[in-house]
Amino acid sequence: MKVLSVASEVVPLVKTGGLADVAGALPAALAGHGVEMRTLMPGYPAVMKALGKKTRVKAYADLFGGKAAIVRAKAAGLDLYVVDAPHLYDRDGGIYGQADGTDWPDNWARFAALGRAAADLAAGADEKFRPDIVHAHDWQAALAPAYLHHSETAVPTVVTVHNLAFQGRFGAEVFSQLGLPPAALAVDGIEYYGGIGFLKAGLQYAGAITTVSPTYAREIRTPEFGMGLDGLLNARADRLHGILNGIDTDVWDPAGDRHLASRYSARSLKDRKGNRLAVEKRFGLDADDDPIICVVSRLTWQKGMDILAAEFDAIIAAGAKLAILGSGDQALEGALLAAAARHEGRAGVVIGYDEALSHLLQGGSDAILIPSRFEPCGLTQLYGLRYGCVPLVARTGGLADTVIDANDAALSAGVATGLQFAPDRGDAMTDAVRRMVALYRAKAAWKAIQKQGMKADVSWLRSAGQYAALYRALMAGEGRT
Ligand code: ADP
Ligand code: GLC
Repeated sequence: MKVLSVASEVVPLVKTGGLADVAGALPAALAGHGVEMRTLMPGYPAVMKALGKKTRVKAYADLFGGKAAIVRAKAAGLDLYVVDAPHLYDRDGGIYGQADGTDWPDNWARFAALGRAAADLAAGADEKFRPDIVHAHDWQAALAPAYLHHSETAVPTVVTVHNLAFQGRFGAEVFSQLGLPPAALAVDGIEYYGGIGFLKAGLQYAGAITTVSPTYAREIRTPEFGMGLDGLLNARADRLHGILNGIDTDVWDPAGDRHLASRYSARSLKDRKGNRLAVEKRFGLDADDDPIICVVSRLTWQKGMDILAAEFDAIIAAGAKLAILGSGDQALEGALLAAAARHEGRAGVVIGYDEALSHLLQGGSDAILIPSRFEPCGLTQLYGLRYGCVPLVARTGGLADTVIDANDAALSAGVATGLQFAPDRGDAMTDAVRRMVALYRAKAAWKAIQKQGMKADVSWLRSAGQYAALYRALMAGEGRT
């Protein structure tokens, strides 16, 4: 079975969040299930530079305002198709916006081009690879099902929602430039609250909709989490599936991780010590026996970073040390830096994006705190489980599905892997930190939680099978739109 995966970011080429990890890991995960997956992505400068020998499979005289091509190439072990369109992608700055954080004004064209190219590949632009399924990730790829629906090509589609907060909404005035028939500008098409919605269109036209955890699949059908799309998601509930993300267990392996000061396994947990010392040094923390709680995150409201800033003093008073790595909202960066400055030796903040340091934090901290208000899946708690860095998580979305709270029942049954607390509540978060500190001081109980977490299967094994089964069902004719 041939599947074309379509994504706007792919590890290790470009990444702003977990979507890139997932898009980068899926092809290898699915290979064992008889799925040949290739990935279509935009030709940003970093991508064009990484490509090996390029073969042009389709040329466009004018793709949203300039000459363009789809090229086939390999990079970093991935089989890629790349939209080579310098007028859309060859620019300095971020992949979605300028350095100051504002979106590129032509994002509608930049990502309509991605959807257009996906539909053209599905129609046979490269005769060497005619996909049986098109799998589009997030709003940036979500016009692919719209173009396919309004074409002669009957290739079934899957749209995966990695985060419903990002929807690709634009003014109705760009519709005439998308190359869709006038009928598509309708309530059962791309029209969305008077404008147009890329994700909305994808959810409308997809043969199947998935999101990245079972709990988030339920949550997004409610007004509280549905972000305006809960009505549509309920109407299409029979097509909606929650499939948990896995992680790349070769990249994230404490026994072989090059970014660690000291490598270890569940049998040699004492070897985490070297990483712990390195974390203390890097974050200016006292070298004592108090637990280190780390945060590796986008610094945003979704991630509950304002709650963390508000509870900062209480967390330190509870006896924990904090090591925070992140970047995002400037106000939150400032609040966390100011809070850390009040607690010399007890808290450190590094503002920035640093892949190597994110590995060291998982290998050297005792726990990782994730106080998200909503979390479609979340990957850092999965890394935490694998690294014996115990997750402290808000009970929402994928966090609720992947961490077993250390309540009395779970502790006595020996199944606890972390701690959960009620989302959007600072007092509940700080209570969880207090519980964590007490467990940490009861050394044997703590070690048992670490080891139990390291036993959890956080690989793609199960979920890859679920994607493969879904593709097969679609090919068998369930879910044509
Ligand atoms: P989201 O995609 O919503 O940001 P995820 O938990 O799915 O959340 O994925 C976040 C990914 O980005 C993880 O791989 C995490 O390690 C990484 N990450 C987030 N912030 C940083 C940072 N400042 N430095 C390095 N890696 C980071
Ligand atoms: C999104 C979500 C995150 C999820 C990731 C990968 O960025 O915010 O929860 O893990 O996508 O699916």
